[in-house]
Amino acid sequence: MPGDLRRAPPLTMLGLAIASIHPQPASLMFVNKTKLPHVLLPEHYSSPTQHELELERLFRPQWHWVGSLHDAREDGDFFTRELLGVPILVRNHQGSCHCYLNVCPHRHSTLSSERSGNCPTLKCQYHGWEFHVDGSSGRIPDAKHFRPMSGGPECLKKFSVAVHGPLIFVSLDPSCPSLPDQFQPFAEVTSEFPGDRWAHAETWHYDFPANWKVVAENTVESYHLESVHTDSFRFEPEDEIEHEIHEGGTIMRATIHATPRARQFTRWVTSQLHPGCSPQYRMHHLFPHLFLMRTDAMLQAMTLMPTSTTSCRATVSVFTLRREHETPWSRLLTRFWGRIKTPAVKKILAEDASLYPGIQTGMEHSPFKGCVSTREELVHAFQHHVSQKCGLSIEPDRAAATSAEELSQ
Ligand code: FES
Ligand SMILES: [Fe+2]
Repeated sequence: MPGDLRRAPPLTMLGLAIASIHPQPASLMFVNKTKLPHVLLPEHYSSPTQHELELERLFRPQWHWVGSLHDAREDGDFFTRELLGVPILVRNHQGSCHCYLNVCPHRHSTLSSERSGNCPTLKCQYHGWEFHVDGSSGRIPDAKHFRPMSGGPECLKKFSVAVHGPLIFVSLDPSCPSLPDQFQPFAEVTSEFPGDRWAHAETWHYDFPANWKVVAENTVESYHLESVHTDSFRFEPEDEIEHEIHEGGTIMRATIHATPRARQFTRWVTSQLHPGCSPQYRMHHLFPHLFLMRTDAMLQAMTLMPTSTTSCRATVSVFTLRREHETPWSRLLTRFWGRIKTPAVKKILAEDASLYPGIQTGMEHSPFKGCVSTREELVHAFQHHVSQKCGLSIEPDRAAATSAEELSQ
């Protein structure tokens, strides 16, 4: 999968519209010069067949952000999750993270039903079988009653784990390409600082009554900022917004509009935490479902998982930067910055959330083709990715710009 287009196969007709850009001259901030078609049909946002296709082709062969270093900080710390319906357990063993199917080979109980905890040994909650870090069985209470055990006791099933910045990723699919390969064009967003420079501020969830693509598309376009986030989130003029489109995702860079006083305050805070820390907003969308936003001394991660054809769950975490050599004062400032940033992020996401039911209803009743502006071209790139991965056959007129007459039909 991903990588940038320098390694990509030749572009299709439709792909011409999403040609990758490399560092651009300041005068060319968008990749496309003309408006774009809405590649996906409204029914792709509620069709059960499309939902199954997406699970199979987009989500299963994928790395998923499942937690943060903060969730398993000490030796023996663990957390459990459900990933695409599969129960998993992630555990810190002497500083490295390991992921197991949260099912015991003895009589199929989950190893733990706790959301998180600490266990000095990896042990099943039911009859107390213990397991080594590689998943092989260790101490079995009253083992003599299991004789003869042909081939020895069974092992736990393990999944691949990767850590990037403060984020822990798991893949259920052994054929999934390595995470660094997948992260390649986006790595600077989390590799700029080591994982332990990020302090976890808060993690929370939303259950949105809308198809996951409605939320993904809204997240990557800045066209709605003026009308929806009038007082909370605006960019400096449109010609300062910069887009990059890669095979595996997209990047947006912009300057957040702020009053001179707010800008001065941010500059002061960030100079205390990391002198020279860039105030630029960077939104990295790793197809299909991971969004990493960086600005000044904050990192925000968001992932989307479909929960039905017309609903999805978003998980959001906010991290703020720690000073390289921490002092009690800098620790306080890092925490304070998290307390300032988290409500601001929640306000913006609540404004977006209020739109999702209406967009979903519209999708389910729309007779229109829709269209996408150059400012929304990252939506087009995302739709193109979904369409390609799912093998959708796109009408020829969706590969070309849609005329005003067509839109009014
Ligand atoms: S089910 Fe796990 S030890 Fe029995
Ligand atoms: Fe928004």
